[in-house]
Amino acid sequence: MKALFMGLGYIGLPTAAVAAKNGIDVIGVDINPDVVDTINRGEIHIVEPLLDKVVKEVVENGNLKAKTKPEEADVFLIVVPTPFKQNHRADISYVESATKAVIPFLRPGNLFIIESTSPVMTTEKIARLIFKARPELKNKIYIAYCPERVLSGNVIYELENNDRVIGGINEESSKKAQEFYKHFVKGQLHISNARTAEMCKLTENSSRDVQIAFANELSIICEKAAINVWELIDLANKHPRVNILQPGSGVGGHCIAVDPWFIVSDFPEQAQIIKRARETNDYKADWCANKVIEACNQFEAKHNREPIVACMGLSFKPDIDDLRESPAKYITSRIISEARAQVLVVEPNIKTHKTFNIVDHNEAYKKADIVAWLVRHKQFINYKEDKGKEEFDFCGVYK
Ligand SMILES: NC(=O)c1ccc[n+]([C@@H]2O[C@H](COP(=O)([O-])OP(=O)(O)OC[C@H]3O[C@@H](n4cnc5c(N)ncnc54)[C@H](O)[C@@H]3O)[C@@H](O)[C@H]2O)c1
Repeated sequence: MKALFMGLGYIGLPTAAVAAKNGIDVIGVDINPDVVDTINRGEIHIVEPLLDKVVKEVVENGNLKAKTKPEEADVFLIVVPTPFKQNHRADISYVESATKAVIPFLRPGNLFIIESTSPVMTTEKIARLIFKARPELKNKIYIAYCPERVLSGNVIYELENNDRVIGGINEESSKKAQEFYKHFVKGQLHISNARTAEMCKLTENSSRDVQIAFANELSIICEKAAINVWELIDLANKHPRVNILQPGSGVGGHCIAVDPWFIVSDFPEQAQIIKRARETNDYKADWCANKVIEACNQFEAKHNREPIVACMGLSFKPDIDDLRESPAKYITSRIISEARAQVLVVEPNIKTHKTFNIVDHNEAYKKADIVAWLVRHKQFINYKEDKGKEEFDFCGVYK
């Protein structure tokens, strides 16, 4: 069996490599020639534990070859980005252009799968695009949607062991896709239809977003009421049927901070809580920035000099180097541009950055008058609160 993956990023490359490790003849296509060259040398261009070993092995044994152009195959997978546009609408232009690139190579009996996170009805739309260009393929190829739900840092394990949801445009397509994934997925492969599978992926991330928004809203209420939110949540969670998540400085990353908008933009009347959750989590980042900026003003009025502020963490969650949609990065940028202060930027997982001058965390903490804890990195959790400083524990380093 030969499978062709369009897109070799955080999801496409590990999936292609794991499929190749399980005996599938894999062609990985990426429009970025540097990505293709790196992979063909047996190396990787993203940070992900164990991936380097798997890629090296499958490139050396010839099961994975990277190319810049597609060719004929038995199975085609679309794993390209789906960001949102200015108006929060999903941008499916990458999915469309990757599909257009493979249309000339489709043959009867082929299986075409979209893995990119997509708004509801995208698979049907892409099927129409294919059949418009190649009407003779109608009812002759199989088309399915199968979203990814891996956690960065644990991708190789989760790719093989997580359950997956598969939604074909018809039953035969779902079954064909299920057979394909059985080659390398040990988790259960649940069959549904394309719309449900698309909505399922968006629902998973919206569910997380709504639950985090609840915790973030509590943290803002607790600050007003002078209640320790960490203690409160800990106590509330003693209830056998309550499980509140932890608040933070907002919600970031390319999934939870993005995907709920795909529901909101398509169902604006119906998606009330999902929209409010997104707004609440975005507001939390502004609330944190406002707190620190206000503290800087008060410091200057009291001490007649600008404070030194340490912004502790830039990434969108603990112990990673990924800054996509990061609330910590947003808060830091706002403090730099709006506060009258000397700002020290800390991110232990990054050595250098094109915009920020990264400072060692011990040095920044020592020098700072005001400390904003933005990400709960492991390097931060052994600090002892210094009463001589003003500290904002937005992410629970002292909980
Ligand atoms: N990263 C995650 O943890 C994660 C988890 C679940 C779902 N997803 C979804 O998976 C999809 C892919 O995400 P990612 O994180 O792998 O993205 P990514 O940006 O890391 O990689 C996408 C790759 O596709 C390539 N590409 C773009 N257009 C192309 C085209 N027309 N033909 C061939 N290659 C093309 C890019 O050069 C890039 O290398 C997105 O829809 C994302 O929402 C991601």
